[in-house]
Amino acid sequence: MRVAMFSTKSYDQHYFELANVEHGHELTFLEPRLLGHTVSLAAGYPAVCAFVNDQLDAHVLRTLSEHGTTLIALRSAGFNHVDLEAADALGLTVVRVPAYSPHAVAEHALALVLALNRRIFRAYNRVREGNFSLEGLLGFDLHGKTVGVIGTGKIGVLFARIMTGLGCRVIAYDPYPQAEAEEVVEYVALSELFARADVISLHCPLTPQTHHLIGADAVAQMKDGVMLINTSRGRLVDTLAVIEGLKSGRIGNLGLDVYEEEEDLFFQDLSDRVIQDDAFSRLLTFPNVLITGHQGFFTEEAVTSIAHTTLANITAFERDHGTIHRVTSEQVV
Ligand code: NAI
Repeated sequence: MRVAMFSTKSYDQHYFELANVEHGHELTFLEPRLLGHTVSLAAGYPAVCAFVNDQLDAHVLRTLSEHGTTLIALRSAGFNHVDLEAADALGLTVVRVPAYSPHAVAEHALALVLALNRRIFRAYNRVREGNFSLEGLLGFDLHGKTVGVIGTGKIGVLFARIMTGLGCRVIAYDPYPQAEAEEVVEYVALSELFARADVISLHCPLTPQTHHLIGADAVAQMKDGVMLINTSRGRLVDTLAVIEGLKSGRIGNLGLDVYEEEEDLFFQDLSDRVIQDDAFSRLLTFPNVLITGHQGFFTEEAVTSIAHTTLANITAFERDHGTIHRVTSEQVV
């Protein structure tokens, strides 16, 4: 199939070209994000491949449909950026990559926990400048601490297992508890998790119910000095509430791989520009905040798997309108 691939970088091209040897699709790699003013680039392409910060709202979907697109192949697990009701109404098929490497994201969450706790980013810079002072680098033993996992799906359970391996006690909240997870976590109410956890890590999807799950109320219920980690979706966290929590000391450490307004920041080199997002700039001023730019998924295994599954989804659609890994407003297949 002819596929317009939006928001692509050199690594996308590399791994998709390797995987495409088996599939033989005609891939056009486009750097721009898919937005209202770039959607015309997809004119005449029956398939469009989109990433997490592409904007698949009703207007964009309608234009795609009018220009001949029938398949939207997401190269992500998350689909919160797609207006699925509009897609259904237009008869557009939307497919995704439900799982590629949950290890990649769980391990990145661990990287944030360890780097933050022992201030590795500060130590790295200090030592390079000949400053061997330990002031400000004091961490805590993770062993024996209570970790709160919100969302015990594929990634949350793996993260729980990793933390158990470090000697942590893991409590969890999920409206749909999993029997398998009960081997490693103790399910508790959300308010109890906030009250007991020394480290809180978010692994639930972004939905209308989870939008700003971490707001001022939640922060007020947390332990003093709590470590908060978000590798899931930026809008789970109310940035301004968290900034207040950092200023008061309620939040002792914050690790983010995702950010509420990341669409205008992440996946590009803005080092010559002035950052216009004041809340993001404020976050960067705290010595106890570590932000990475949505790289949790970024391992060789995960990007290889994303490319293979995305192209297999497109092949299945092309052959017999197969709807493998389809998402609709009603159900996720
Ligand atoms: P999953 O679908 O396997 O698990 C999600 C879990 O969240 C389910 O158990 C579900 O019951 C639970 N959940 C739903 N509503 C909830 C609520 N209100 N409160 C608490 N839990 C709730 O998803 P998976 O694969 O574990 O991924 C988790 C999230 O990680 C994804 O939604 C995605 O946003 C994010 N992600 C981030 C990546 C990155 O590069 N940083 C890469 C891949 C995924």
